Amino acid sequence: MGALYGNPSLTGVEKTFSPDEIIVTKTDLQGRISYGNRTFFRMCGYSEQECIGAQHNLIRHPDMPRCVFKLLWDTLQSGREVFAYVNNRSRNGDSYWVFAHVTPSFDASGRTVGYHSSRRVPDRQVLSRHIVPLYKRLLDVERRSASPRAGMDAALGAVETLLKESRVGFNQFMFSLGA
Ligand SMILES: Cc1cc2nc3c(=O)[nH]c(=O)nc-3n(C[C@H](O)[C@H](O)[C@H](O)COP(=O)(O)O)c2cc1C
Repeated sequence: MGALYGNPSLTGVEKTFSPDEIIVTKTDLQGRISYGNRTFFRMCGYSEQECIGAQHNLIRHPDMPRCVFKLLWDTLQSGREVFAYVNNRSRNGDSYWVFAHVTPSFDASGRTVGYHSSRRVPDRQVLSRHIVPLYKRLLDVERRSASPRAGMDAALGAVETLLKESRVGFNQFMFSLGA
């Protein structure tokens, strides 16, 4: 799809944003971006014109485990909100971590008409102590498996075991890490 949607190599540079900023996007039911705020465009490095109508995986970071997005989509499609730490890749190959709150948007009759994500600066200790090692483990499980399907199942199994051990749901688990 040309340079714009290509896979720029990673620079290894992590960008940060201010604790009083929120990165906002909205999508349609298929995950195509329908709105972004100025902080989003600054952080991802794409223009509004380039983003609107593009799939949100435009900024997918290759080190993110696929199972996290599967859990995110399953939760949204069941009508519930989800909280997750996400590493993103900017256009130039830089990256930036966020703590995202993603929700369905409903119309007056209660039908889901799209999705909405607000992201804040993540806690650095939670990232380094818990999330980076956990996501690395999940990514290893996914990559070591014989097929993408088997990798997804194994990684989801690992998350399920972790949640059972912690006796909490996915969202509570994400919050409990900062406690
Ligand atoms: C409202 C909303 C916001 C999203 N924000 C991001 C995001 O910031 N970064 C990201 O990698 N994926 C985001 N996603 C998930 C993507 O749609 C996609 O599932 C993910 O990038 C994995 O892409 P892949 O299935 O091509 O591997 C978002 C989805 C929704 C519905």
